[in-house]
Amino acid sequence: MGIQLIKIAAVYFFIGILLGMYMSINHTYNYSSIHAHVNLLGWASLGLAGVIYHLFPAAGESIFGKVHFWLHNIGLPLMMTGLFLLVHGYEAVEPVIAAGGILVTLGVLSFLYTVFTNIGTRHDK
Ligand code: HEM
Ligand code: HEM
Repeated sequence: MGIQLIKIAAVYFFIGILLGMYMSINHTYNYSSIHAHVNLLGWASLGLAGVIYHLFPAAGESIFGKVHFWLHNIGLPLMMTGLFLLVHGYEAVEPVIAAGGILVTLGVLSFLYTVFTNIGTRHDK
């Protein structure tokens, strides 16, 4: 699962950088918050979680690691797509952004739990 996360993170990295290039070339900074979160929640956070799950397989294989994987990977695209539509004036999507953010937050809570219960313990081989 760590390897899968690293691959997913690399895709976010490319999308995040494309948005950065788009903004720089066009001098339009309206995608700034999407760019920031695709890079930070997608590339940086998922990539780091992937490396952690690879180093500590017990954390990734635990039910909480799997819950984190799914909540983060469902919540983030929802949040980013919603934010994209919001930037384009579709204010009705705000609940979708909120739902995506809540899913990611619950996913990170699950990550916190698996890190504390599976790393630095006798299970962390
Ligand atoms: C080719 C690569 C990149 C380009 C061309 C680029 C370009 C940009 C641009 C044009 C902005 C908007 C600045 C503004 O609103 O004044 C921005 C904001 C931002 N970028 Fe990038 N970026 C790149 C890579 C990255 C990466 C790799 C990360 C993080 C891992 C990152 C994190 C951020 C953050 C957090 C902001 C928001 C800053 C703020 O609102 O104060 N960027 N970037
Ligand atoms: C569920 C998780 C998260 C939610 C719901 C969230 C929400 C937000 C919101 C509402 C803003 C203000 C956006 C604006 O003014 O346009 C913001 C800004 C920002 N957040 Fe997050 N955030 C989350 C996670 C993170 C994480 C994990 C990082 C860093 C690793 C991060 C880094 C930033 C940065 C650098 C900014 C300022 C960039 C900008 O101009 O938009 N956020 N976030």
